[in-house]
Amino acid sequence: MKRKGLINGIRLIVLSTMIGLLSFQSYAAKTMDAEASAGKKLFEGSSSFLNGGPACISCHNVNHSELISGGLFAKDLTKVYDRMGEGIAGWLGAPPFPAMAASYQNHPLTENERNKLMAFFKSANEEKKDSVCIPFVAEVLTEVK
Ligand code: HEC
Repeated sequence: MKRKGLINGIRLIVLSTMIGLLSFQSYAAKTMDAEASAGKKLFEGSSSFLNGGPACISCHNVNHSELISGGLFAKDLTKVYDRMGEGIAGWLGAPPFPAMAASYQNHPLTENERNKLMAFFKSANEEKKDSVCIPFVAEVLTEVK
C-alpha cells in the first residue's frame, strides 16, 4: 500500500514536469518572434507589401491562434512549411500558379517580405505540432488515479 502511494507520487512529479514543459513549449510557439509576427501582418494585410500586391489571406487560410480565418479559394497553408520548408521564400519570388502569378508579377514580393512570410509559416506549423500533445497529456492524466 505504502509503495503504491510512492509510485503515484513519482507519477505525479513526472506528470507535472511534463505539463510544465508542454505549456512552456506552446507559450514559446505562441509568442512569435519579430520576424514571424511581421510575416503574419503581411499575410493578413494589416501591413501592406512594398510593391502593392494583395494580402495572401484573400485567397488562403492558415489556422493560427492569432489570426482570423482566411480565404478558401486556394490551398490551406497551415502546414505548408512541412511541405515546402525554407524553399517557400524562393518559391514566392516566382509562383508557378496562374492565379498567384497574375496577382504578383507586377507587384513582386521583396526578399525581406518573403523571408518574413516564411517565418510566419514556420511558426504556424510549430503551433499545430503542439496541439498534438494535448490528447497525450489527457491520456496520462486518466491513468494517474
Ligand atoms: C489571387 C489568389 C491568391 C493570392 C492573393 C495568393 N495565392 Fe497562393 N495560391 C493561389 C492558388 C490558386 C494556388 C495553387 C494551389 C491551389 O489551387 O490552392 C496557390 C498556391 C500557393 C502555395 C503553394 C501551396 C502548396 O502546398 O503547393 C503557396 C506556398 C502560396 N500559394 C503562398 C501564398 C502567399 C504567401 C501569398 C501572399 C503573398 C499568396 N499565396 C497569395 C492563389 C493565391
